[in-house]
Amino acid sequence: MFSKDTLKGKKILITGGGSGLGLSMAKAFAFHGADVAICGRDEEKLKNALQEINEIKNTDSKAIYHSCDVRDYEQVKTTIQYCVQELGGLNGLVNNAAGNFLAMAEDLTPNGFKAVTEIVLQGSFNCSHAFGKYIIENKIPQSDILNIVTTYTQSGCAFVLPSACAKAGVYAMTMTLAFEWANYGIRCNAIAPGPFPTKGAWDRLMPSKDIEKFYIQRIPMKRYGEHEELTNLAVFMMSDMARYLNGECVTIDGGEHLQNGQFNFFAQMFSQDQIKQVFSSVREKNKK
Ligand code: HXC
Ligand code: NAP
Repeated sequence: MFSKDTLKGKKILITGGGSGLGLSMAKAFAFHGADVAICGRDEEKLKNALQEINEIKNTDSKAIYHSCDVRDYEQVKTTIQYCVQELGGLNGLVNNAAGNFLAMAEDLTPNGFKAVTEIVLQGSFNCSHAFGKYIIENKIPQSDILNIVTTYTQSGCAFVLPSACAKAGVYAMTMTLAFEWANYGIRCNAIAPGPFPTKGAWDRLMPSKDIEKFYIQRIPMKRYGEHEELTNLAVFMMSDMARYLNGECVTIDGGEHLQNGQFNFFAQMFSQDQIKQVFSSVREKNKK
């Protein structure tokens, strides 16, 4: 479906691109011909990530990094300027940087709430705003913002209150900017990933192997996502193949979000054979 120049001409900044899904997306974008820039707080991490990108990237593409704390608007503006100067422009932004941890709501401090919401919500605003102003002022014709959210933007989620509030805000920002900035040729979409193993997420959100075993039962496909499955979607959504897609949030979670079906629990509690037995005994009982 994709070729080595699917993203040719795209110049994309990926926040939090030094690790995890951000790095996987940066590699996939560069492999498919985009020029990429990654940013984050830890310069050492960015340097190592850049090496990984350089090993895989399309020979024509350029890859750079810039340290940046997305909570600080001045740093964000400097980063955008640096990308424009080094890549000869910018026409894509992926708001991927995030923070998260497990905590009971009553144990959170105001600063703990702020630590996450400032990265996720304020950070996504800072980057989208600085990027949008650059696009609008320079009349860049076709550009893209892709926000990485979560599957709990509309349901909320126990034990991750700051993340649930912030990601819901980013989802609202996605739809708002999709409408407001469409006339500038800026598309704004989102991806809601289910569980994709990364060190950042697993260290903070998967307390033990036992919990992981329990967790995986929730997923109809009974496995985690593979990074390539997510990056394929991201490449498509950032490409011109998806030019009419705007304001959309695509969930990619093996069906995990479909927990509400009243009888879904059978699949989580019993084996296929046990379910068959239970259903035939009910059928027997009801035979006239
Ligand atoms: C309660 C906590 C806490 C915890 C920090 N705090 N960790 N409170 N439980 N586990 C509180 C601190 O006590 C402090 O409040 C405040 O938060 C700030 O803490 P710092 O350590 O100074 O914050 P900072 O250095 O800014 O780090 C931000 C961070 C950290 C979010 C806390 O985890 C981080 O840098 N994360 C980046 C990477 C990340 O989180 N990746 C996972 C993304 S996964 P006080 O009041 O004491 O000063 C994801 C996936 C979701 O989003 C879905 C998965 C399926
Ligand atoms: P990760 O590796 O921890 O990625 C988070 C990145 O954000 C890190 O590279 C981090 O780098 C950067 N970051 C954090 N605070 C920052 C700040 N203030 N300024 C700039 N960069 C900052 O975790 P991940 O799992 O790949 O998560 C990537 C995205 O996917 C996040 O938006 C997350 O919410 C979303 N997501 C992940 C999963 C999953 O299962 N993995 C599921 C749903 C959603 P520094 O620390 O160096 O700054």
